Amino acid sequence: MTEEKFQKRIDAEQKIEPKDWMPDAYRKHLIRQISQHAHSEVIGMQPEGNWVTRAPSLRAKMILLAKIQDEAGHGLYLYSACETLGISRDELVQQLHDGKAKYSSIFNYPTLNWADMGAVGWLVDGAAIVNQVSLQRTSYGPYSRGMVRICKEESFHQRQGYEIMATMAAGTPEQKQMAQDALNRIWWPSIMMFGPHDADSPRSGNALKWKIKRQTNDELRQSFIDKTVAQAELIGLTIPDPDLKWNEETGHYDFGAMDWDEFWRVVKGDGPCNKQRLDHHKKAHKEGEWVRNAAKAYAKKQELLTV
Ligand code: 3HC
Repeated sequence: MTEEKFQKRIDAEQKIEPKDWMPDAYRKHLIRQISQHAHSEVIGMQPEGNWVTRAPSLRAKMILLAKIQDEAGHGLYLYSACETLGISRDELVQQLHDGKAKYSSIFNYPTLNWADMGAVGWLVDGAAIVNQVSLQRTSYGPYSRGMVRICKEESFHQRQGYEIMATMAAGTPEQKQMAQDALNRIWWPSIMMFGPHDADSPRSGNALKWKIKRQTNDELRQSFIDKTVAQAELIGLTIPDPDLKWNEETGHYDFGAMDWDEFWRVVKGDGPCNKQRLDHHKKAHKEGEWVRNAAKAYAKKQELLTV
């Protein structure tokens, strides 16, 4: 098949499946994006895992445990979708450990107190929902189907975070201040999860041509901001952006300039927690080697028994 015929399939809204012919560049683009998405899900478990033992109640602990467990599952779906493109899990993990593959920069910020659990669920999972609902229509079959399953669970993640923020905002003045402080620290890194502005997004051209992305970074970012401002106001918190203002003409919120120097500094490895996150992943991966070996040995034995 030629690239021209491939593009006709994309334009005709046909899903591309693992065994279909695809341009090498499409395959590489997908491996890049899906693997970084998977790495984000797994690394994202660390900032929240930090608070399981210090959750304020058994109910809060159970909810946080369930959420973190979901994220591990999201990583599993995404690694599995990525492996259908002809790359192994070991190679993907090695790329992460070698710094050749990234994960979402939001996870390179620390979670300092329980209010951060609220802000992460409300804003980070809230942003992920906007991005992932759009990705349900991505042109690659396994990625699209994985997104449908993930989006069902993501809504619970956002709700539980928002409940924490609403509870603290309605609590003592100190608790409300903790919630506002968490919003102040996590707001800007959350809206940067949507990536650089469209004009500065080197991958968006192909991503949109091949319908890997269905909407642009700025469209999704705007949609997230428009729906989140009212949620903050409802619980009496203030979005930390003095330029945030409803624009009657456009029907959207205008918002302030983002600090892209900080963004690229963190993406390139110089964020508050980059080293900690990667060191922890490497240590956990090493410690888990015996489990992987046991699972492989068991699978081999089962295979032998069934021949
Ligand atoms: N953090 C780290 N890297 C980022 C980034 C961010 N917030 N935003 C963009 N980048 C990287 C891109 O990966 C790309 O790097 P690469 O060329 O080395 O692969 C580069 O910056 C240029 O950005 P582009 O906009 O040109 O790249 P994309 O077209 O890939 O758009 C994206 C970036 C919007 C993140 C897109 O890759 C995407 O939609 N990915 C899938 C969703 C995803 O990965 N979300 C991450 C969070 S998952 C999550 O939050 C889990 C939830 O359960 C909490």
